[in-house]
Amino acid sequence: MILGIETSCDETAAALVTDEGEIRANVVSSQADLHARYGGVVPEVASRRHLELVTPVIREALAEAGATLADVDRIAVTQGPGLIGALLVGLAAAKAIAWSRRLPLVPVDHLDGHVASLYLQPDPLEPPFLCLLASGGHTMLLDVHSHTERELLGSTLDDAAGEAFDKGARLLGLGYPGGREIDRLASDGDPAAYDFPVARVPGLDFSFSGLKTALLYAVRDLAEEELEARRADLAASYQAAIVRALVERVREAAERIGRDRIAIVGGVAANSALRAALPEATAAPLALCTDNAAMIASAARWTEEVPYPRYLALDAYASR
Ligand SMILES: Nc1ncnc2c1ncn2[C@@H]1O[C@H](COP(=O)(O)OP(=O)(O)OP(=O)(O)O)[C@@H](O)[C@H]1O
Ligand SMILES: [Mg+2]
Repeated sequence: MILGIETSCDETAAALVTDEGEIRANVVSSQADLHARYGGVVPEVASRRHLELVTPVIREALAEAGATLADVDRIAVTQGPGLIGALLVGLAAAKAIAWSRRLPLVPVDHLDGHVASLYLQPDPLEPPFLCLLASGGHTMLLDVHSHTERELLGSTLDDAAGEAFDKGARLLGLGYPGGREIDRLASDGDPAAYDFPVARVPGLDFSFSGLKTALLYAVRDLAEEELEARRADLAASYQAAIVRALVERVREAAERIGRDRIAIVGGVAANSALRAALPEATAAPLALCTDNAAMIASAARWTEEVPYPRYLALDAYASR
């Protein structure tokens, strides 16, 4: 079994996954409540919380799998990208466990992890496919040739789609994290109430900053009680604009590269409107869209391991 550890942002996560991609345990402890009062993740607060949670979360994953460290063959851990302090906590924990048991360590790229959420049982997707990776920090179109080769077709020029959701939620006075809140509120609103623009940038790239500004102006033009009455319509229209931007690009890319298999991964892939607008796409199960360690362990199946004790010198990276 592979023990996966993920601490790149504000989720402390550990999972046990077999070489065949079967999830034996998947524990995610979200710090969202801790950061909600600040309206976003505070990096240093996240690092300290990871430090408190990482051992209990790993213990819980082992208990859930009915396993001990003696059943673990290698340790997979997110090396980056993410918050550097947060990543270092997971990496240090992984090194310590691997070293103490003389096990190899597999450093995993978080984005490979998101894609590998599709390779888990019971319905693993086989490459090649076109993949939309839409999360809190990234929005990318990837041509996934194989388990180890992918080509970047387009990415966001400014905000990520998840960031657009989070910032929009903040403008609407909703809680953090915002994507799920907008998704929920939008179901009571009219997606055609407001005509928010979808940026047209060349190629297969995305841009969401203009959309955010359009929402800002719409909100600013409303009095407090008007905003109260229109909040669901604003959420639904804003969400519809983000979804339209994503779907248009996905269809364009699929046609351009001639792929009929499409997949969506990352936190935004949990969005109900996006899933409904792309019925032909394979989406990871909801629990595997947002950050988790099962996807990190899954990616480790195709990532080169670093033998004992060479990995003690490994460092985390905040970005590529
Ligand atoms: N139902 C939903 N609708 C829209 N957005 C959602 C939904 N659920 C979660 N999100 C968004 O997904 C993002 C979190 O996803 P994820 O955990 O994959 O991102 P991250 O790990 O912070 O970023 P990255 O993976 O790029 O490092 C947040 O921006 C959140 O608002
Ligand atoms: Mg993520």
